[in-house]
Order: sequence, then C-alpha cells, then structure tokens
Amino acid sequence: MHSFSYKNGSLHCEEVNLADIAAAVGTPVFVYSKKTILEDLEEFRRELAPLNAHIAYAVKACSNKAILHLMAQQGVGFDIVSGGELWRIINAGGDPSLCTYAGVGKTEAEIRYALQQGIYCFNCESENELRTIDRIAGELGCKAPVAVRVNPNVDAHTHKYITTGTNENKFGVDISRIESLYATIAAEMPNLCIKGLQMHIGSQLTEVKPFVMAIEKVAPIAAKFKELYGIEFWSIGGGIGIVYDGCLASGKPEWWAAHPEQITIRSYAQAIIPLLKPLGLRILVEPGRRLVGNACAMLTTCLYEKKGEAKTFKMIDAGMNDIIRPALYEGYHEIWPVTEHSGDEITADIVGPICESGDFQAQNRRIADVKPGEVLAELSAGAYGFSMASTYNSRPLAAEVLVDGTQWCVIRRRQTLEQMVEDELLPGEQA
Ligand code: LLP
Repeated sequence: MHSFSYKNGSLHCEEVNLADIAAAVGTPVFVYSKKTILEDLEEFRRELAPLNAHIAYAVKACSNKAILHLMAQQGVGFDIVSGGELWRIINAGGDPSLCTYAGVGKTEAEIRYALQQGIYCFNCESENELRTIDRIAGELGCKAPVAVRVNPNVDAHTHKYITTGTNENKFGVDISRIESLYATIAAEMPNLCIKGLQMHIGSQLTEVKPFVMAIEKVAPIAAKFKELYGIEFWSIGGGIGIVYDGCLASGKPEWWAAHPEQITIRSYAQAIIPLLKPLGLRILVEPGRRLVGNACAMLTTCLYEKKGEAKTFKMIDAGMNDIIRPALYEGYHEIWPVTEHSGDEITADIVGPICESGDFQAQNRRIADVKPGEVLAELSAGAYGFSMASTYNSRPLAAEVLVDGTQWCVIRRRQTLEQMVEDELLPGEQA
C-alpha cells in the first residue's frame, strides 16, 4: 500500500504536502516515498519467508542512486542488464556479488567488467553469448558463473511490448532446447560454471495464473539441473503488476478488500511457494515495478487549456520525454490535482508540450477541471518513469525527490540546459 493521500485538501506523500515540493523544486518532478518502498520490500520478505528466497531488484525500473542505495542498505540483490547498471550499483554502495546480469546483448567490454567485479551470475540468452563469456573468462583466467534464461512459452496476458515469455519473443532459449544447451555448456565450455536457471515471462502481470503455469512447466527442468549440474538457484523473474487504475484509492485497505482479484505480493507468494519449496533451490525473485511503481508521483503544472470542437485539452509541462508509458504501451496513470477539487469534473485530454500527437498522459479522462497554474500529480510513476526519460524536444531531464516522513530531499537536480548539451561538439573541437 502506498503513502499518497489527501490531507486537509492537499495531496501528500507521507507527511509532506506535494504543493511544497512543487513550489520549492519546480515541475516536472518525480517524488518517491521511502516508506512505501520499505514496506513493500518487507512484505516480499515476509511472504516469501517459507522459501530460501532472495530479492534481486530490477534496476531498470528506477535506477536513481539514492533508490539503489536504499535497496543496498536493505541487503537486497540486483537484477541488472548493462555494464552501466552494474557501475551504478557499485557507485551507490551496492555489492556486485549480489548482482545477476541479464540481457540479450551483452558486449565483450561489459562481460569483462562484470567478471572483474565478481558478479553473482550471468543470466544468458543464447549459445553464442555463452561461448563469448567462456572465451573471455578463459582469457581472464577465471570461471564465469552462468545461468540460462529459459523461455517457457507461456502467455503472460500483458501488453505485447512487455510480453517476454513466448517463443515469438527475442528472450531466452526455447524450453525444448534448454536441456541440450546445458549439456553443451557442461561438455564444451570449460570456463563456465553452471550456477542456476532463470526465466521471466513478462511485466505488469495482473493475475498469478501465468506465473504458476510457467513455474509448473519449468520446475521439472530445474529439478533435473540440480541433479545433473548441481545448480544452486532458480530465478523466476519479476513481473508482478501494480495498481494503475485505482491507484489513489489503493492507498487504503478498504480498496484492497473490495478488489480481491488484484494480484498482491501475498497471493503471488501463496501460489508459488508450494511449487517451489520442494525443489530445495535458492529462489531469486526480480521485482522492479512492484517495488517502486506505486511509490512515486510525478508532479506537473497545468500550463494552458483549450476547448476544441471535439475535445477539451489541458496542456501540462510534462511530456512523453518525462513519462513515455502512455505513448508506448497505452499505459494508464491516474492524474489528480494536488489541491483537492470537488464536483467540477470534466472530460479532457491531458497533453504535453512535445510536437507529437502521441504526447499525451491521459485521453478522454474524467478529471477535475484544473486551471492553468495548478499542480497535478501523475500517480504510479516510479517504475519505468524517470528511467525511460529522454531530452526529446531539448527538454532537460526532470528532478527527483525522496520523501521520508516529514522530511524530503532532492535526489536528482533538474538538468540544466548547459548539462543537456555539454557533450556536443562542433567539428574540429577536441573530442
Ligand atoms: N527481470 C527481467 C529479466 C526483466 O526483463 C524485467 C523487466 C524484470 C525482471 C522486471 O519486471 P517488473 O517486475 O518490473 O515487471 N518499460 C515497460 C516494462 C519493461 C520491463 C522489462 N523487463 C513498462 O513501462 O511497462
């Protein structure tokens, strides 16, 4: 449950009035709740306690240094997908030996760096990649810990761009080929040490069934690999969905009582524990969105309004460069005025300043009739929000803030125009 709610007519994050943050830092700004993140982490640990389970936070969801530092302090591990993410973990005080390194396109330089830093394991996606890691480990005189991502061919029933576990996707190795690939590793790749097995079927899953189906399908293989190769872990990936539509109300227990169909950490854990426990393996879980998604609101200011023949538009100072989810995945984010309204709802499109028709945060949305100058909060913005931001249309990156009780601090300064162009050169300038 998150910590965003109206208090005395003003939207708060924990005990801090969001209007104060907007006034002090400007907009757009991403505001994270430390309490929400810590509580959700605690819930994962509590619910998964019957298993020898470990959290590997999927860094791509939100990779701000302060958030990674917070996770590292809690002793969680990390699911990374680039040398850059590994560098960030180390820079934030995290432990490389708690990192699993996934991704279909690891470069040789990244593989070398990860081996030198002593990561826990590479989660590999092809035989080619395994052979490359084997060669580099040989050159460095070490043994590389590896797991392979198995693609169980289970439909996750989520948006097509974030479905990963069917054989139409570029991810993993087909379940029909995984056993022969492990045999090839054991026989032909002397610088690799088979340490585990990995899978991930997709993101923003709103039901537990696909998780259960994938685990049931792959469990016999995990058991066999434990027998044959002595694997120590099985990473079952991330993907647990969060509340987008209904987000504000879901800050209260009553909402959860009225929505028993909503996936929870508990329903997820209770469904998978009986399937995993008998294996006696270390289980890694790689949540990204579920740990940070509902823990953040992006504040934005209404700039203008325009009433057309067909629609009413509210123009805001945040664009698809700040949050691309609505444009890219038809993502739905609730938007609320920071100062509470009552009884003046209209239907409007909430659109950004970018020169693209896809630059909207909401379409045909029932929303308070906010006026220019008012601050709005776009909820569920913590996962794949800032981490997917760009400077498209030459818009500097937004600021980020972390709230802790009655206190708050800036965890990313707003980018300046100078910073935005500082690496650009005229021909002839020293590269
Ligand atoms: N593990 C692996 C191997 C992954 O590829 C991902 C996400 C995760 C874990 C974490 O999944 P999560 O628990 O966050 O669902 N940008 C998209 C989501 C892309 C997810 C990519 N992989 C969005 O905004 O919906």
